[in-house]
Amino acid sequence: MSSSFGTLFRITTFGESHGPGVGVVVDGCPPRLPISEASIQAELDRRRPGQSRLVSQRKEDDRVEILSGVVDGNSLGTPIAMLIRNQDARGKDYEDIARAYRPSHADYTYDAKYGVRAIAGGGRASARETAGRVAGGAIAQQLLALRGVSIVAWVDEVAGLTAAVDETVVTREQVDTNDLRCPDPDAAAKMIERIEQARKDGDSVGGVIRAIARGVPAGWGEPIFDKLEADLGKAMLSIPAVKGVENGSGFAGTLSTGSAHNDVFYRRDDGSIGTRTNRSGGIQGGISNGEPVTLRIAFKPTATIMREQETVDRDGNPTTLMPRGRHDPCVLPRAVPIVEAMFALVLADHCLRQAARS
Ligand SMILES: Cc1cc2nc3c(=O)[nH]c(=O)nc-3n(C[C@H](O)[C@H](O)[C@H](O)COP(=O)(O)O)c2cc1C
Repeated sequence: MSSSFGTLFRITTFGESHGPGVGVVVDGCPPRLPISEASIQAELDRRRPGQSRLVSQRKEDDRVEILSGVVDGNSLGTPIAMLIRNQDARGKDYEDIARAYRPSHADYTYDAKYGVRAIAGGGRASARETAGRVAGGAIAQQLLALRGVSIVAWVDEVAGLTAAVDETVVTREQVDTNDLRCPDPDAAAKMIERIEQARKDGDSVGGVIRAIARGVPAGWGEPIFDKLEADLGKAMLSIPAVKGVENGSGFAGTLSTGSAHNDVFYRRDDGSIGTRTNRSGGIQGGISNGEPVTLRIAFKPTATIMREQETVDRDGNPTTLMPRGRHDPCVLPRAVPIVEAMFALVLADHCLRQAARS
C-alpha cells in the first residue's frame, strides 16, 4: 500500500501516468532551508522523456509547481507539495493492453492485487511516478549540499558493454556531456549504437548504473534493520526495472579472500580515520565510515518491445500482443537522476536521524 518512503525526511508520491498529473509531498524537511526551484526543475529536465532519440518520445515539459511549504525561497518546515502536470497522454495507445498482459510488465500483478488498474501508460507502474521522487530528491540534495555531501551517478554498462570511469573524480558535468550519461566517450559511442540497433529491431537492452556519494561523514545509518545499505538497497530496488543492487565490492567480493578484501585503517593528515581501500563501499555494520558510499544498480531490458509477443488475456486465454505507445529502448539514461534522487533521500533521512541523536 505504501507510496511513502523515509522516516524523518519522508516523501509520498502520487499520480498515474495518464491522469491529470504526478507529484510528491515532502514531509520532515527542516525549516529555513534555501530551496532552489531552478535546481528542482533542472533535475526534472534530466529525467523527462523526449530529451534525445535514445529515450521515449513522449513530449512532457515536466514543469514543477510548488504548492506549499516554501515561501520566499525558504522551506517553512511544513509539508512541501509539488505537482507536475501530464500533458502528452495518449490513452488510445494502450487499448490493447486493456485486454492482454504485457510480458514482464506490471499489468498482470496489478490486476491480481487490486482487480482494477489505470491501464493507460501503466498507471503507477509507469516511470512517470518517479518524477515525484526526483523533485523530492532535489530538495534532499539541497539539504545534503549544505553538509558537504554530493552524489554522482552514471551509466556504466549497457548490454554487456562497459565504461572505464574513475569513480573518485567523475563529475556530474562529465556525465551530462552526452545523451547516454556515460562519462567515457568511447564506450558511450558504442553503447549508443547498441541502443539504436535495439530500437531499430523493435527490441530493448538493459545495463548498470554506478553511483557514488562523497562527503558522507562517519556515523550515518542505523544498526540492524535500518542499515544504510539496507535502506539504499530498498530505495534502489523500488525504482521500476531495477533487478539488483551492489554496495562496495558486491558480488565480485565473493571471489576474494579476507586478506585481500579487508580495508586497512590509517590516520589521515587531518587526524581523522580513513581506510586505504574502499571495498566496503563506505559502509560497515550498516553505518557510514567516512569513505565514499558506492553502489551499482542493475536495470533489466525495457519490458515493452515493439514486437508481437505471446501472452494471455484476463481470462487466461492465449493471445498475442503488439504494443503501441512511446517507450524507452533502454531506461538507463533517464534513470541516472532517479538513482541520484533515491540516494539523496536515504542520506538526507539518515542525516536527520543522526542529528536527532546528538
Ligand atoms: C526511467 C525509466 C523509464 C522506463 N520506461 C519504460 C518504458 O518506456 N516502457 C516499459 O515497458 N517500461 C519502462 N520502464 C520500466 C517499467 O516501469 C517497469 O519495468 C514496470 O513497472 C514493471 O516493474 P519491474 O520491471 O520493476 O518489475 C521504465 C523505467 C524507468 C526507470
